[in-house]
Amino acid sequence: MKNYKRQLVCIFLGICMLAGMFSMQTSAALSHYENQGVYDYVLRMYEEILERTPDAVGLDDWCQRLVSGQESGAQIAYGFFNSSEYLSRNIDDATYVSTLYMALFNRTPDEIGYGDWIQRLNAGVDRLNILKGFVDSSEFEALCRGYGINKGTIETSQDGAAVYMVDQFVRRFYESALNRQPDAVGLDTWKRQLINQEISGAEMAYGFIFSQECMDQTEVDDTYVRVLYRVICGREPANSEVEAWLGNMAQGSSRLNVFCGFVNSQEFLSLCASYDITSGGDKYYRIREIDPQKPMIALTFDDGPSIYTPRVLDALQQNGQVATFFVVGTNASRYGSYIKHAYDMGCEIGNHSNSHLDFTRLSTSQIAREMDITNQYIYNAIGVYATVTRTPGGSYNTTVRNAVNSPIILWSIDTLDWKTRNTQKTIDTVLNHAKDGDIVLMHDIHKPTVAAAEVLIPELVARGFQLVTVSELAQYRGDGLTNGKVYLGFN
Ligand code: NI
Repeated sequence: MKNYKRQLVCIFLGICMLAGMFSMQTSAALSHYENQGVYDYVLRMYEEILERTPDAVGLDDWCQRLVSGQESGAQIAYGFFNSSEYLSRNIDDATYVSTLYMALFNRTPDEIGYGDWIQRLNAGVDRLNILKGFVDSSEFEALCRGYGINKGTIETSQDGAAVYMVDQFVRRFYESALNRQPDAVGLDTWKRQLINQEISGAEMAYGFIFSQECMDQTEVDDTYVRVLYRVICGREPANSEVEAWLGNMAQGSSRLNVFCGFVNSQEFLSLCASYDITSGGDKYYRIREIDPQKPMIALTFDDGPSIYTPRVLDALQQNGQVATFFVVGTNASRYGSYIKHAYDMGCEIGNHSNSHLDFTRLSTSQIAREMDITNQYIYNAIGVYATVTRTPGGSYNTTVRNAVNSPIILWSIDTLDWKTRNTQKTIDTVLNHAKDGDIVLMHDIHKPTVAAAEVLIPELVARGFQLVTVSELAQYRGDGLTNGKVYLGFN
């Protein structure tokens, strides 16, 4: 009985060993003779890419890689295209793309697809990215499925999509600004600078618009504005749009100012975004020009910043104008990014105290503390302190004037916006009184005021006013500003 049992165990073990050997045998055998799909796929690579029949060693090696799962169909294709045998043949782009179609899609190229790949190669996209485009497609997936193999993918070091976008972006500038195809050196230079982020979209636009070649073609203002629409907005303008800009220019707005308005537009932001390029238009406010002969007004906004402030900034930016913001403690601390944006645009940042207490009721040291806290918030946001002060409620006395140690800016037009909270009344008050040298008091913490500002800013510009900062107004319409002195306007 015992012996019989041992015999059974031996037979069982024997069967197990045989089975194991058999299974090892079959997997090796399959790669050579029975996994027809793998074999056919590798054969296809030899015939379509290397254009020859396989050698035994090579065929066995490629098949093994696929069968073992070490490499995917995509990686095998990469191996063939990247082999020294293929590379040594110095295949041109056209043949390369045709070969990709035959090898990986099993068909001749269609015209549109073929043209697109060639365009990408011409744009400087490397061949690895083109191969990736093919192996990541559903068409290649279907081919692999037909062979019963794993499709997989390949990795690329170059960001092919970015390279292509930048190329297209630069080409459209040549076409829209210069009316010609790019020269190789120019194209490469612009592309390299954009890819390395040495320049922004707006800086490149500046380079094109103010190049001698473009200026020669845009001597007439009308043409200049239309070219800006084509280059910066990517569209043809309505006649009324052109007329509005020509009106600005007739009132003395320089070409540079008009350009600034364009590169700061939402349309240019969107255009750059669609090419994944930084617009950088906001850098173009520092070169704003002021014409001393033209009337100017300083809009001032108190008690903010607030959630509505970006709307004021947008309206200013779209019209190429600036304002002065007298900020208070908590808001200055909370909305530091708005202060930064305003400052970067060329706006002026003023101190409106920390707690908005009546300064005439505070001691010298209390006033100093109120000033210091908000000044620190401003410094944290923009790296400089406030240049001007508006005391809370505009109240002051000798103690206040001495303690504040900064020019005290009041106003010549009080909109009473905080009281009426009425957009139309705010608009009317400003438009009925606006004259050269005015300082207008408003508050960017009230929604109706911000809606009024959105109307007022373009309307004042249309009426020939330049919107300037308080310091600029003091410079052009007074003798500058003095610490401790009170200013109600410059007219
Ligand atoms: Ni206030």
